[in-house]
Amino acid sequence: MTSPADASPPSPPETLPLPPGSSGLPLIGETLEYLRSSRAFAERRQRQYGAVFRSHVLGSPAAFLLGPEAVQWIFAGEGKYLKNRWSPGVRRLLGAHCLAMLEGNEHLERRRLLAPHFSYASMRGFVPIIESLSRRHFERWTARPGDFTLWPAMRELAFEIALALIFGQDTVDLPFLMHHFKAWTAGLFSPFPIDLPWTTFGRALASKKAMIGYLEQVVAERQARTEQPPDLLGSLLQRREGEEPLSRAAIVDELQLLLFAGHDTTVTAMSNLMLMLAQHPDVLQRGREAVAGLEGPLTLEGMRATPYLVQLLHEGMRTIPPIGGAFRVTTRDVAFNGYRIPKGWTVPVSIKMAHAGANWPTPDRFDPERFGGENPEQKKPGTFIPFGGGPRICLGQHFAMVEMSVMLILLLKHHAWELVPGQDLEYTQVPFPKPRSGIQLEFRRIDAGERPLAEP
Ligand code: HEM
Repeated sequence: MTSPADASPPSPPETLPLPPGSSGLPLIGETLEYLRSSRAFAERRQRQYGAVFRSHVLGSPAAFLLGPEAVQWIFAGEGKYLKNRWSPGVRRLLGAHCLAMLEGNEHLERRRLLAPHFSYASMRGFVPIIESLSRRHFERWTARPGDFTLWPAMRELAFEIALALIFGQDTVDLPFLMHHFKAWTAGLFSPFPIDLPWTTFGRALASKKAMIGYLEQVVAERQARTEQPPDLLGSLLQRREGEEPLSRAAIVDELQLLLFAGHDTTVTAMSNLMLMLAQHPDVLQRGREAVAGLEGPLTLEGMRATPYLVQLLHEGMRTIPPIGGAFRVTTRDVAFNGYRIPKGWTVPVSIKMAHAGANWPTPDRFDPERFGGENPEQKKPGTFIPFGGGPRICLGQHFAMVEMSVMLILLLKHHAWELVPGQDLEYTQVPFPKPRSGIQLEFRRIDAGERPLAEP
């Protein structure tokens, strides 16, 4: 029912008060507490001020808006009253021409150009590639008993899959790119982006330079061909009639973004899920039973007919979202829930808080049954957002789900893994949520009767 108050026109933002909260210390505001644990930071203030509060973090006044309605309001505001906010350090490392930096029409156009490669239907062609790469890597993992750390091994696999998506059949220098990506990623999230040769940020810039030099050569070699193969780089190089081709700098920036966005996220999701499965043998067993009937070669249809796979992946990413959040900035004074948020303020999108909030009973429990059947918990918009939302929703979400499903089926069907005792499983949060040990496993095959694939 609409009350008379609901029917009155909304108050203009300038007449409204700022959200409650504090600005903390001069210059640094409340950044240190925020960086220690963004979830503890937000929960403490939510108890004190409610679901809308202000603070000062990462060099800017900020409005924290919590709860499912706020999440939807933020996603709906892209290009209207909000835009993406990146720190100057990230801007320099990502490059100005990639999708994540573009705004408005340019952003829409670039997404349109890339979208065909990321539709669910076009995943059909990737399934055999992902299956063959995953089988080959898992086989290698079994050859390292007693000396196996999951994180770097998963990184190699996911990176190779991302290279196949982007460069198709072309051979690219994987060890070179992986080496430089590691240094580059470390700098991307450095809280002190100081450009000196011995700082994390300085080393990241040097790695960016090396990668750009290499990727420029790859692009130049491709541009010299008369026909482009049907891979992602081919799409970036081909333009429809009457359209300006993308500059080489824009293509290189895009390749770099896709390589980055396309591997560390899946590494985080899969590695943490394997850890949770090792800690929950009953769930692992249920997973093994769910995939028992799936025979290779794997297909999209087989995966679709096995909803428990999605339940496992979703609950893994709900419990530990690979990306804990993102930042937006207000482009004008705007009103939310009776408060004014001035132009230029940061508005964090907290994926972690959306997944941990009151909408999820016992949020810290790993329980894939939440995503089963008609369970109402999963139906509320704004409460499960591992891939973000709105016009900037993850471009690679279908690719990621298919990639992780293939890996998961093969792992559940053919392998067993146990945690090596005594390792440090305390989580570090930056750049991605990762146990300090990197997850040391005893990893082995459980269907010894099957012949391992030969190395290429
Ligand atoms: C488990 C895996 C993944 C997770 C959890 C994830 C999560 C996200 C999130 C939360 C965003 C939105 C950030 C924002 O709102 O600012 C995003 C954006 C993006 N993701 Fe993913 N991602 C994953 C895998 C991938 C893969 C495999 C690719 C590509 C191969 C990819 C490419 C991108 C791109 C290009 C964007 C920027 C979209 C834009 O600005 O329009 N992601 N991702």
